[in-house]
Amino acid sequence: MKRKIADRSAVVGVVGLGYVGLPFAVEKAKVGYRVIGVEQNPKRAQAVNEGRNYILDVKDEELRDVVERGMLSAEVGFDRVPEMDVIVVAVPTPLTRNLTPDLQYVERVTLEVAKRLRPGQLVSLESTTYPGTTEEVMLPILERESGLKVERDFFLVHSPERVDPGNKRYTTKNTTKVVGGVGPRSLDAGVHFYSQTIERVVPVSSAKAAELVKVFENTFRAVNIALVNELALLCDRMGLNVWEVLDAAFTKPFGIMPFYPGPGVGGHCIPIDPHYLEWKAKEYNFNTHFIALAGEINRKMPEFVTEKALRVLIEAGMPIKGARVLVLGVAYKKDIADHRESPAIEIIKNLRRYGMQVVYHDPYIPSFQEEGFHMESVPLEEGLVAAQDLVIIATDHSVFPYPEIVRQARRVLDTRGATRHLPKELLEGKVVFL
Ligand SMILES: NC(=O)c1ccc[n+]([C@@H]2O[C@H](COP(=O)([O-])OP(=O)(O)OC[C@H]3O[C@@H](n4cnc5c(N)ncnc54)[C@H](O)[C@@H]3O)[C@@H](O)[C@H]2O)c1
Repeated sequence: MKRKIADRSAVVGVVGLGYVGLPFAVEKAKVGYRVIGVEQNPKRAQAVNEGRNYILDVKDEELRDVVERGMLSAEVGFDRVPEMDVIVVAVPTPLTRNLTPDLQYVERVTLEVAKRLRPGQLVSLESTTYPGTTEEVMLPILERESGLKVERDFFLVHSPERVDPGNKRYTTKNTTKVVGGVGPRSLDAGVHFYSQTIERVVPVSSAKAAELVKVFENTFRAVNIALVNELALLCDRMGLNVWEVLDAAFTKPFGIMPFYPGPGVGGHCIPIDPHYLEWKAKEYNFNTHFIALAGEINRKMPEFVTEKALRVLIEAGMPIKGARVLVLGVAYKKDIADHRESPAIEIIKNLRRYGMQVVYHDPYIPSFQEEGFHMESVPLEEGLVAAQDLVIIATDHSVFPYPEIVRQARRVLDTRGATRHLPKELLEGKVVFL
């Protein structure tokens, strides 16, 4: 298997062709591996086979090229697992309604793979999860269903995906990869596989350690975002501009690192992954206080933005009911096409509850469906901004023409500090910051 990995004759399987799986599959196909994707959504599988891209981080022409050259294809089922030398699993790991881990996707995939496992294969879990998933959940299913023994017949690692969607500087190739195996032979196989295409691979002593690395990284972000969000709440009371305070604080060249407040956290990582760790810690009779507190503060932010929007309208002498509000950006962060768990949507729901007429514009999210209501992005055309009582910048996409927006708007609530560097004369009396 190691020889095949080195000379690129190995076949790489990628289960789950989403935000993580598709860029990974294209990357591996580009460097010369034949890649077979397994994707349960038939529309996505068909799109891949027709060379049609649906993930912003993937370049259309690169996907088309690898599909046309026969280097990448997608299947809905698992029948081709025996052809694969390496099987990378990148399926969702959401939370249940009670904020506990929902491993149904990982379990289902593991069972399907296990039924078809053959000697010499390397299985790598890339989904983010709590420490112990690979060894305590996947391994027993793989051994029981296949009758094979790990380390002797097949290899199993956890190598968390760290991709930052929309980040142009750090991609799969130049983002250091952490690998932990369930044993030394698995680790060796995993490091060998990832080292072929990724600039730096960091081995750790177990799959459990690798799992903890990733959930800790996301916890670090959640906690620091909560810290600056809390500062924003305090600055609001003190009548200070949090952006001015933070911009000045981050000029210190050591001992501090930039994190920015916002309308809340979204996406498939920050609001979810720390709770995986929180849940697992309970098994050790341990409470992760920082995670609980960060979650509490970050979840409060959409409500705070709603309240601030009400205040802006009241202070301007405008009625709440029937107020026309334009929300700019519903993606959970800038320059991406992902609105999962987006705080902007919660804000829209809140404003609608007050009887406001809310529309949104997001060039990356043409429409969305949320528990009982459907919205479509309105075009940012002449007259739209001027017709609003309030414009809320919920996501700071780079393509938004901020000076124009501020010039035309009656009032702007900027939750991302997107306009803070515009001339003072333009902002005064018009823009309110978070
Ligand atoms: N999106 C990110 O920024 C990011 C970054 C790092 C890590 N992660 C982690 O990676 C994992 C995947 O996240 P994602 O954002 O790519 O999710 P996603 O929803 O975009 O993609 C997952 C894909 O898996 C498919 N799938 C689900 N069950 C399947 C099954 N039984 N068989 C085949 N395909 C199946 C889904 O249809 C979907 O296309 C999660 O654990 C996530 O936490 C995500």
